[in-house]
Amino acid sequence: SSNRKIAKDLLAHYDVHARRLPWRAPPGSNEAADPYRVWLSEIMLQQTTVAAVAPYFARFTDRWPTVADLAAADDAEVMAAWAGLGYYARARNLLACARAVARDHGGTFPDTEEGLRALPGVGAYTAAAVAAIAFRRRTVVVDANVERVVARLFAIATPLPAARPEIRAAADRITPDARAGDFAQAMMDLGATICTPRNPACGICPLREDCAAFLTADPAAFPVKAAK
Ligand code: ADE
Repeated sequence: SSNRKIAKDLLAHYDVHARRLPWRAPPGSNEAADPYRVWLSEIMLQQTTVAAVAPYFARFTDRWPTVADLAAADDAEVMAAWAGLGYYARARNLLACARAVARDHGGTFPDTEEGLRALPGVGAYTAAAVAAIAFRRRTVVVDANVERVVARLFAIATPLPAARPEIRAAADRITPDARAGDFAQAMMDLGATICTPRNPACGICPLREDCAAFLTADPAAFPVKAAK
C-alpha cells in the first residue's frame, strides 16, 4: 500500500541520513537507545531546538550519567544547569520524574506508553516518543514537525487545529509495526531539515513521490491554518 511505501521510503532514507544526535543509539548498531537519555532529550527538546539543547544534554549526562544520579542531585544544582533553557517548570518536573523513577520503579523507566504517561511532566507526546524510541513500542508520535509532514503527505485541507484528529489518524496509518521509533525520529528529521515550514526542499525529499502536497502548486500551504 502507499502507507507501507511511505514508511519504507522514509526508513531507507533515515538509514543513510539520520542526524547523529547524542541520545540516539549508534546508526546500524541494532542497540536500543538508553531510556534515560531519550527521556532527558525529549524533555529538553520541548519548545527548544536540537542545536540549543545539545550542549545542555552533554553537560547533564556528564554530571548525572544515570537517572539515579539525577534523582540524587541537589535541586539548586539542577536548576543552575538548566539555566538558559527556559520554561523552568520543565526542570522541576524533570527532577520530580527522576525521583519517581528511582523511588517507585527501582531506577528503571516504565517500558509502556501508559506507564510513562503516569510520570511527572511526561505528557502524551513524550510517553509515545520514549516508548517508541527506547522500548521499540509501536506508538503514534506526533509533534509539530510530524504534524506538518503528515498534513502535506495527505494534503489535508481541514485547517488547524480542527485537523488534529485527522492528522493523528493518518500518522497512525503510516506508522510501521517494526521500527516505530526510527520512523518517528525520521519524521522529525524530515520536518526539521527538508519538509520545513517555509521553502520545503521537495527536490531532495525521499517522500516526494508519496506526497499529495507536492502535486499541488504550493506544498508549503499545508497544514492549512484557520483564518485569523
Ligand atoms: N525533537 C524532539 N525529539 C526529537 C528526536 N528524538 N530527534 C529529533 N528531533 C527531535
